[in-house]
Amino acid sequence: MASLHRSEKLEAAFAALSRNYRGLDVDIYALCQQRRKTAPVMEGDFMASLSVPTHAGQRHGNPTYAVFKYNDIKAILQDAATFTSGFIAKGLGTFFGGDGLIIIAMDGDQHRKARGLLQPVFTPQSVNPWRAEIERSIREEFIAPLVPNKHADLMDFALYFPIRVIYALIGFPQESIGDFYEYAAMGLTILAGPKNDPAEEEAARMSAVAASQGLYDAVIQLVAQRRAEGATGEDLISRLIRAAFEDRRLDDKEIATFVRSLVAAGGETTTRTFSSVMTLLLQRPELVERVRADRNLVPKLIDEAIRYEPTSTVKVRQAARDVEVGGVMIPKGALVQCVIASANRDEDIFENADVFDIDRKLKPSFTFGYGPHTCIGQFVAKLELVAAVNAVLDLFPNVRLDPDRPAPEIQGGQLRGASSIPVIWD
Ligand code: HEM
Repeated sequence: MASLHRSEKLEAAFAALSRNYRGLDVDIYALCQQRRKTAPVMEGDFMASLSVPTHAGQRHGNPTYAVFKYNDIKAILQDAATFTSGFIAKGLGTFFGGDGLIIIAMDGDQHRKARGLLQPVFTPQSVNPWRAEIERSIREEFIAPLVPNKHADLMDFALYFPIRVIYALIGFPQESIGDFYEYAAMGLTILAGPKNDPAEEEAARMSAVAASQGLYDAVIQLVAQRRAEGATGEDLISRLIRAAFEDRRLDDKEIATFVRSLVAAGGETTTRTFSSVMTLLLQRPELVERVRADRNLVPKLIDEAIRYEPTSTVKVRQAARDVEVGGVMIPKGALVQCVIASANRDEDIFENADVFDIDRKLKPSFTFGYGPHTCIGQFVAKLELVAAVNAVLDLFPNVRLDPDRPAPEIQGGQLRGASSIPVIWD
């Protein structure tokens, strides 16, 4: 059985990323509630007011607005012609080397075609054949080796299993996982690029661009190899080589650029979500009992945790024309912060919105986004989360929070999650 993988570089990069987007220690949900009551569409940079660096910062010279109500945010995310994403290529995108080929920063036809090519690889039918290997890897490689210790910090493996899963899906050779953790650390360095201080940001840009290139070089080599071998396998790269939409195929550069972005898009997002799911569960021992006895509740637990504690509290768009939102005129060019953390607790949509209740009637929350850019990897993410929660409940008998260590806390202004979840078991 393989031992637990560790990479100091990755752990340091994750901690730095959390610090970068943490901002002030304020109750973001209380602030949002106040806004929903008094000014549901606010002129100004809500994230900057929490001291969080976003790409919606003033440095682009555009006015910034923040939107807090569920229905307003739903309408914005749905209407990608009026509320565009291309500006991301000029912000976060420049940390990827500035070639602008990242899907989250595409608009219109370019985005529709890219989704058309990529989507079939990520449907539940396509993802389900990976289920057994994902479950095996999480159980055997990460959780089973810890069982004899009778205590652990769940974050010690939460950082690794999502990267391990993406690594296997991409089709990298099993033995070089250690190198890949280094690439994943590079991915997190890219995400931590935007800073409040422009001088600091320039320095971060330099190291992020180098990191991005390193990751790209590793991936493009593998793409060329798979193409040369005929791309017959079920790994992601081979599937992307075979994918076609409206008679178009992806070239090596497009595949490498997309695959590189997955390390950042699918790694730390899943880690942070897992940390919130486990924190909310373990804080409620009676719920642990219920879920342990009835595993059909695991997906409900995850959906509610995702609503209650979104991993990323805000999604930003740019107005392509003058447009009215909730009675406020937003001028063309303005950046619009859609505050997901607020929409997910909108009392007009969710009854007792501030109560964590896995029995509530399911309504979509926006943690995986909404509309044309909705998370393409959400079935992979949910599959991993279900597998990880089940493995913890199965392999750690009577798992509970360690009473001798600080209780986990979900924190963060933009990226939310717990940094430590100490547990014990029998
Ligand atoms: C719990 C974990 C995850 C969360 C919370 C999450 C969240 C999101 C959100 C909110 C978006 C929309 C961005 C926007 O509207 O601007 C998004 C897009 C995306 N996600 Fe995820 N994600 C997760 C896991 C994953 C995984 C595992 C993958 C890949 C295997 C992935 C790949 C992507 C990609 C490629 C996009 C861009 C889609 C587009 O622009 O059309 N995500 N994700």
